[in-house]
Amino acid sequence: MTLSRADCVALDRADPLAGRRALFDLTPGQIYLDGNSLGALPRAVKPRLDAAVQAEWGRDLIKSWNTADWINLPTRVGARIAPLIGAAPDEVIAADSTSVNIFKLAAAALKLRPGRKVIVTEPGNFPTDLYILQGLRDLMGDVELRAVEPAGLQAALTEDVALLLLTHVHYKTGRVHDMARLTAQAHAAGALALWDLSHSAGALAVDLNGCGADLAVGCGYKYLNGGPGAPAFLFVAKALQDGFQSPLTGWMGHAAPFAFGDDYAPAKGVLRGLCGTPSVLALTALEAALSVFDGVDMADIRAKSMALGDLFLDLALARCSEFGLGCSRDATQRGSQVALTHPHGYPIMQALIDRGVIGDFRAPDVLRFGFTPLYVGYADVWDAVEVLADIMQKGQWREARFHEIAAVT
Ligand SMILES: Cc1ncc(COP(=O)(O)O)c(C=O)c1O
Repeated sequence: MTLSRADCVALDRADPLAGRRALFDLTPGQIYLDGNSLGALPRAVKPRLDAAVQAEWGRDLIKSWNTADWINLPTRVGARIAPLIGAAPDEVIAADSTSVNIFKLAAAALKLRPGRKVIVTEPGNFPTDLYILQGLRDLMGDVELRAVEPAGLQAALTEDVALLLLTHVHYKTGRVHDMARLTAQAHAAGALALWDLSHSAGALAVDLNGCGADLAVGCGYKYLNGGPGAPAFLFVAKALQDGFQSPLTGWMGHAAPFAFGDDYAPAKGVLRGLCGTPSVLALTALEAALSVFDGVDMADIRAKSMALGDLFLDLALARCSEFGLGCSRDATQRGSQVALTHPHGYPIMQALIDRGVIGDFRAPDVLRFGFTPLYVGYADVWDAVEVLADIMQKGQWREARFHEIAAVT
């Protein structure tokens, strides 16, 4: 049965996460369905950043490395992300970008599996994962990259494979990989498993340790709401930490950075994954942003996210027959996003944005809508589809201004 708007309002009233919306600084009249690309601004961030700029940087200057404990931000923020991804607090640090962290962990995996020269991954993944692996292969000279479709992954895991790198939730289709099964298959072949959690962390319950995952990375600016270009995170399972060698042996990953010795010696544990000076203001923003997860049950987030995605698809496909389906209809197989396809997806998305419904477009034909259950409600979804149906019915997307391609889509 398709829900009415009144039903959606009633669902919002009964929603255990309803109170969380007030923790975000949302623009009135705008429906934000792009938290899978850039999370909305948590209200806690601005006062925390103001204090960090004025008191810690402005007044206390260099002393703040100790007095404000700036030096431990990467481990402190990592420990806060850890419960969201099924990791122990001392298995995660926040640092660098996801791309850089992929490089560090993939290179380290090759070292951890000497004699094995193959990295298995899949084509069509978010490009940076593939690009970084291609750069690593070119640097190493003797590494083979094996990009195979999901159905062929198990067969591709031969005894020369050092690493399986996969993105848990696909950036375009939202498809969820079975982390436990694929990690077990990698291990059966003697390989390690590295998971990109960019579209998973904060969106669905991830259980890295429950799945036996070895390594993981992910973005801080999507569902973790850390702000544009927020630091990423990296995870190294406890059992691997002593053998883990980062290829980027910067001083912040040294055992004694303030001894200023000439020779590199790695810090203990996951801290050796650090390279250079942490981005203090960005980490401060991310740390404050993570407070929106305090006391939240990831099961509630997942349940609402699946319901919002289903509601959007039910309404959109019933009212706008011109769209194709670019994701699974089964919510358990999707992350917190849905995808519609249309040959004119780009101008349709621009028309939606112009009317205050913010999603994004991914070439060649995907309209992507993300549902962050902490601040998106059922009535929002209903209203968003109402706008979409109106745009399609009136053919508003045909206006020339919606066809100008911007640098960032
Ligand atoms: C799967 C995946 N990995 C990595 C990234 C981005 O990496 P970076 O933060 O280094 O730009 C994205 C961005 O959307 C992504 O979807």
